[in-house]
Amino acid sequence: MTMQYPEFIWHNGGIKPWRDATAHVMSHAIHYGSSVFEGVRSYDTHQGPAIFRLQDHLKRMYGSARIYELPMPYDIAQLTAACHQVLNANHYGEAYLRPFAFRGLGGFGLNADCPTETSVAAWKMGQYLGHDVVATGIDAMVSSWNRVAPNTIPAGAKAGGNYLSGQLIAREARRLGFGEGIALASTGLLSEGAGENIFLVFNGKLHTTPVSAALLNGITRDTLITLARDHGIEVVERDMPREYLYLCDELFMCGTAAEITPIKSVDGKAVGSGQPGPLTGRIQELFFGLFKGTTPDRYHWLEPLRDV
Ligand SMILES: Cc1ncc(COP(=O)(O)O)c(C=O)c1O
Repeated sequence: MTMQYPEFIWHNGGIKPWRDATAHVMSHAIHYGSSVFEGVRSYDTHQGPAIFRLQDHLKRMYGSARIYELPMPYDIAQLTAACHQVLNANHYGEAYLRPFAFRGLGGFGLNADCPTETSVAAWKMGQYLGHDVVATGIDAMVSSWNRVAPNTIPAGAKAGGNYLSGQLIAREARRLGFGEGIALASTGLLSEGAGENIFLVFNGKLHTTPVSAALLNGITRDTLITLARDHGIEVVERDMPREYLYLCDELFMCGTAAEITPIKSVDGKAVGSGQPGPLTGRIQELFFGLFKGTTPDRYHWLEPLRDV
């Protein structure tokens, strides 16, 4: 599938035509993965276009920058405005937004103080893991690659370099004919998908792996935990062994890109009935209901698109 690039990008303080928003090949980040970023979605909601949990995403991005001592030249309010400007400039309602900050030109030492460059792009993204998979589900596999150990690279920072791990997991899965890969942590226990958190269903309860299992503390994960608990569905955050993937009644992945994607099988073994299950359907209904208006937005997660 060819990528449709947006007409305009916000780069280092203003909106530019797509072709002008470039970086130099000698930028630090290109060589060493020294960047932090977010993936955020905007939706055409029942009340018009709105960005979902933008402030939580930006807070996480500034946290990732703090971990890597990456000075942020703009504050959260300025980057918020940039996100709104990019959507408006491209006339997008529903889109995927990519706030991004990276070490630019300024030396090749690992500790070089390169000035930070900042950008926000947006593009049209359908269902990340394939056509209609949110309804039909995917077949997944356990990756031969483990996630990083906790005292090596911080999994809780959304940094460019972390996504080398995600690429190994995702590419192996696609090469072997699966929709996505699920990784184990260095402990041998379950971690998460290449770019998604995971939820298992046992006896009508949701079980998800804890943040100590080398995963990104997903904002979708938090959304689902909150919605489930608010609607009387029990959620347990716990370490789980690999074989629970084969024993659970239902299984799904979640993330900004993947939204809520059911998993029909793991390693060729059917999950439950081999079809998306009823609790997965209920969680999808609650989540997508935020945008349709059937789930009340109690926490003001929807940030209406503004002319800024
Ligand atoms: C490695 C990884 N885990 C989990 C997630 C899900 O996080 P979120 O729900 O905040 O998008 C993502 C996506 O950003 C990710 O890249």
